[in-house]
Amino acid sequence: MTNAEAYDRGFAHLSSHTVAPLLALTCAGRAPRLLDVGCGTGVVTSAALALGAEVTAVDADPGMLELTARRHPYATIRRATLPVLPFEDEQFDAVTGNFVINHVAGTAEALKELHRVLRPTGILALTWWKADEMTATNVFADAIAASRIPYEPPDRPFTGNDTPPRFTALLAQAGFQAAAVDTVRWRHQVDLASWWTDVVQAGGPRFDVIARQPPETVECIRGHYDRLAAPYAREGFPVCAYLAHATR
Ligand SMILES: C[S@@+](CC[C@H](N)C(=O)[O-])C[C@H]1O[C@@H](n2cnc3c(N)ncnc32)[C@H](O)[C@@H]1O
Repeated sequence: MTNAEAYDRGFAHLSSHTVAPLLALTCAGRAPRLLDVGCGTGVVTSAALALGAEVTAVDADPGMLELTARRHPYATIRRATLPVLPFEDEQFDAVTGNFVINHVAGTAEALKELHRVLRPTGILALTWWKADEMTATNVFADAIAASRIPYEPPDRPFTGNDTPPRFTALLAQAGFQAAAVDTVRWRHQVDLASWWTDVVQAGGPRFDVIARQPPETVECIRGHYDRLAAPYAREGFPVCAYLAHATR
């Protein structure tokens, strides 16, 4: 199984929760030209196509793009890494980015670039996790810490820009109007054993360290995960995301 397939089996179910609010903001008009940045395996792209949008989907990861291209032949697929986009000025009516801005080095530059490719009055809608309420993944970080392996968590490029007031200010600085940030909370209900397997296989910058460990260390981390995740078996993991939206 590729990382993209593992992402699709696990994380994509978590991230799909914010697709409806993102598209309510961006696909209200008829057949908008929509740019889906950091499309991953296409949860937003898929739903936007179903609403009749003309979708261009971009991602930095070729594996994600390959899967999205195979599944969604009616979307235009391009490889691109924010903060740089290979598009003309004012080419899109709307831009969505579901849980990508938190991976981008250079938030201010990325917002300026998204502003550039939107037409006047076009809509931008972006989500990211509220890190301290992201129990579904924090249990993995806590399990790694409890196992006491020598491990330096990767820098999180978005830290410092991830609060609603700061992000709203960055949107305004990039030239956007009517910027606002909503909070979305839900429970991620998932089989705990499957969630372990899917997150470890998908890896990514925070959790690929687990699969690199010797088997006895993986077992140790797994033991801590089982203990930390157990209280959420019935009700699901509490998770919280921010949804920012603004007009060009
Ligand atoms: C958490 S996934 C979200 C994927 C998808 N939007 C979803 O909701 O499932 C983040 C995605 O952003 C992509 N990504 C990370 N950094 C990026 C960048 N600087 N520019 C474009 N894509 C990026 C990753 O490859 C990954 O597919």
